[in-house]
Amino acid sequence: MPAKAGVAQAAGGGGSSSSSSSSSRGAGDAGLMEGKYCIVTGANSGIGFEVTRGLMERGAHVVMACRNTAACEAAAERLRAEGLPGSCACRRLDLEDNASIRAFAAHQADELAAAAKAAQSPSGRGRAGSRAAGGTSAAATSRGRIDVLVNNAGVMGVSPAPDGTDRHLTANHLGPYLLTRLLLPHMTAVAVAPPQQLQPPAAAQVAGAGGAVSGTGSPAAAATATASGGPAVAAPGVAAAGGGGGRGRVVNVASRAHYAGRLALVTGPPGSEGIANDTKHWWWQYARSKLCNVLFTAELQRRYGSSGGGRGGIIATAVSPGLVDTGIFRYLLPEWAQWLKVPLRPLGLFRTPAQGAEVVIYAASSPDLDLAAAPSAPPGSAAGFTAGSGGATRRPTAPAGPPLFLHDCREMQPSAAARDPRLAADLWRVSAALVGLPEDDQA
Ligand SMILES: NC(=O)c1ccc[n+]([C@@H]2O[C@H](COP(=O)([O-])OP(=O)(O)OC[C@H]3O[C@@H](n4cnc5c(N)ncnc54)[C@H](OP(=O)(O)O)[C@@H]3O)[C@@H](O)[C@H]2O)c1
Repeated sequence: MPAKAGVAQAAGGGGSSSSSSSSSRGAGDAGLMEGKYCIVTGANSGIGFEVTRGLMERGAHVVMACRNTAACEAAAERLRAEGLPGSCACRRLDLEDNASIRAFAAHQADELAAAAKAAQSPSGRGRAGSRAAGGTSAAATSRGRIDVLVNNAGVMGVSPAPDGTDRHLTANHLGPYLLTRLLLPHMTAVAVAPPQQLQPPAAAQVAGAGGAVSGTGSPAAAATATASGGPAVAAPGVAAAGGGGGRGRVVNVASRAHYAGRLALVTGPPGSEGIANDTKHWWWQYARSKLCNVLFTAELQRRYGSSGGGRGGIIATAVSPGLVDTGIFRYLLPEWAQWLKVPLRPLGLFRTPAQGAEVVIYAASSPDLDLAAAPSAPPGSAAGFTAGSGGATRRPTAPAGPPLFLHDCREMQPSAAARDPRLAADLWRVSAALVGLPEDDQA
C-alpha cells in the first residue's frame, strides 16, 4: 500500500504489541510536515502526546495546547530531548473555560501575525526554514497560517459540573467547537461565497414555551434533509500534495462510542436553544459527545470544505483511535485501581498510545486525503485515498470528498445519526448559540 502500509497493520487487529511512532512511520513520511504549523490539544499525555511526536518526526512545528502547563512543559522537554526534526511549544488551553479558549485563540492570532510580519521584513526574508528562539521553525510560522488543528483532548467518566452541566459535552464538544470556529480564519486559504443554508426542520420550528425538542437523526430526517450542494471549490494555488497540502486540516478525535450516542436538541427562540441533558450516565454522555464530534466534522466539511459550497477548502475528518491504554480511564478507575487493567493487556484488547495515534497522524498529514478531496475526484473514487490492509477502498456510492470517519486509517461508515445532515446543521447552530458565536462567520 503506497503511503501507510504500516498504519493499518500497526493499529489493525486490536493492536497489542508495543511500538513507537518512529517504528511505524513509513520511510516516505520523513519531512512530510516540514514547515507545517500544527496545534494538538491535550498533547501532554496519551494519544495527543504520540500525535505530537509523530508530527514532529515528520518535521512539523506543534503547539501543544494543554490545561496543565507543568505537565505540558515536561512532555515538551521529553520530545525535545529526542532530537526530532520538528519543534514544539506549550500554550495553555482549558476547553471547559471559554475565556481560556478565547485567550488561546487571540494569542495564536497575535503570534502568527507577528511571525508573518517579521518574515516580510528585509531582515526576516532570509530566515524561512531557520530556527527561531525557542526552537520554533520560522518556516512554520512565517506564513501566518495554521495548517492542522487536532481536537484530541477529551474526558470520559467525569462527574457533572456543580450546576449539573454535562462536562463531556463541554470538554469534548463545545470547547473544541469554539476553538475551531475561532481558529478557522487562520486556516482557510481563501474566502468564497458563503455556504448554502439548510431550511430548518419542521420540528425545530415548533417552539413551545420551553422550546421544542428535536430528535436524533431519524431515518426520515436523514432522507428528507438536503445534503450539501454546490460545486467543489479549491483554494487557488492549493496543490493536492503531501505535507497536508495547501488545505488546512481539522482532525476531530472521535470514537466508535459515537454509535451508541443519542442527541436531542432543544430548539426555540434565541436564548432557549440547547442540547437536552437527558441522560445522567457517563457512558451515554460520553457517547453523545463523540456523536457530536462526528456531526460537527460533517457540518464543518459542508461549510468550509472543498465540496459542498465550502469557502476555504479545509479538510475535516473524524477519527477513531480504537481502544487505547491511556489515562482517559482515570475518572472511572482511580490511580490505586489502575492495576485492574493489567490482566486485560495480554488479551490484546488495548492499543498502545502510539498505535492509537496512527490514524490521527494519518488524517493530519497523508496526501491521500488531499487527493480524495480534490474537485476532480469522482464519487466513490479511491483517488489516492488508500484503505487498510483489508484492501477495500471507498464504497462505490461514497460521495466525492474526504472521508468523514476513519478507523484503522480506512473509511468507516458512521452511525445514521452522525450522517444526518439536518442534525449536523442544527447542532452547529445550537452550539454557536451556546458558546456565544453567530451561526455564520460572515453574518
Ligand atoms: N483511550 C481510548 O481508548 C480512546 C478511544 C476512543 C477515543 N479516544 C479519544 O482520544 C482522545 C484522547 O484521549 P486519551 O485516550 O489520549 O486520554 P488521556 O491520556 O486522558 O488524554 C486526554 C488529554 O485531554 C486533556 N484534557 C482533558 N480535559 C481537558 C480540558 N478541559 N482542556 C484541555 N485539555 C483537556 C487531558 O489533560 P490533563 O492531562 O490535564 O487531564 C489530556 O492531555 C479523547 O478525545 C478520547 O475521547 C480515546
